[in-house]
Amino acid sequence: MGFQVTLDGQAVLVTGASQGLGAFFAERLAAAGAKVALGARNVAACAALAERITAAGGTALPLALDVTDTASAEAAVTAAADAFGRLDVLVNNAGTTATKPLMDMDEASWDRVVDTNLKGAFLTAQAAARQMVKDRQGGAIINVASILGHRVAGQVAAYAASKAALVQLTRSMALEWARYGIRANALCPGYVETDLNRDFFATEAGVALVKRIPNRRLGTLDDLTGPLLFLCSDASAYMNGASLAVDGGHLVSSL
Ligand SMILES: NC(=O)c1ccc[n+]([C@@H]2O[C@H](COP(=O)([O-])OP(=O)(O)OC[C@H]3O[C@@H](n4cnc5c(N)ncnc54)[C@H](OP(=O)(O)O)[C@@H]3O)[C@@H](O)[C@H]2O)c1
Repeated sequence: MGFQVTLDGQAVLVTGASQGLGAFFAERLAAAGAKVALGARNVAACAALAERITAAGGTALPLALDVTDTASAEAAVTAAADAFGRLDVLVNNAGTTATKPLMDMDEASWDRVVDTNLKGAFLTAQAAARQMVKDRQGGAIINVASILGHRVAGQVAAYAASKAALVQLTRSMALEWARYGIRANALCPGYVETDLNRDFFATEAGVALVKRIPNRRLGTLDDLTGPLLFLCSDASAYMNGASLAVDGGHLVSSL
């Protein structure tokens, strides 16, 4: 007996799809056969990505989305469901951070991080779950958390607290929405090398950090592809409320 990871015809909304992990996830989901709605505040970047996906033979819909705004989250979910006939999967990826010592953390930075990473994930998931209940098809929600939802590092208190809360929120979604056939799981990436952090990882501090990862290397975007497609698809049909770390063993590094 075996299974195949396929997302053929599945309708997926990816939040924070204008750049970074979200843009990458959207391309991989489309390549796996999903119809993807691309939500972010920078709708021009989503439109450019949608064009690339369409040119490669996929189906994509750019959407203006501010996850911290209830009406915006509801409108994006409705627009995706209207365009694709239903909504099967939500990838709650939009996120932000503030790098400051906790002693100097200002209220505005705290609110921006927690409102985006936690409240935004709640608002979008609630809108998506209500749509899935309406569609009577069930669905999957993938909350993109972080290994900082399980451990801490200096100067990212608001981020780490919001991601830990997102892992816990995922469990509440799993518990309360299983009855509707909706599964919710958290994907917890470790440090992934991107254009934004490549310079840091070339510094002495960056090299030292990589040495603390048991697998002795940073993650690549492609390291996340299999786990993402797995959580989105029926291959993970009996997973609900789980937190899946993809981190080269960073969470189990020696204390
Ligand atoms: N990169 C890593 O190593 C890493 C590791 C672990 C977890 N993560 C998580 O992965 C996710 C993506 O991170 P990234 O590295 O790709 O970050 P990024 O390059 O900064 O991208 C963040 C995305 O979130 C969107 N966003 C921010 N605020 C939003 C809002 N209010 N409404 C809608 N969209 C919003 C941004 O789009 P707009 O500005 O256009 O709205 C952008 O598309 C985040 O949740 C992050 O915490 C990343």
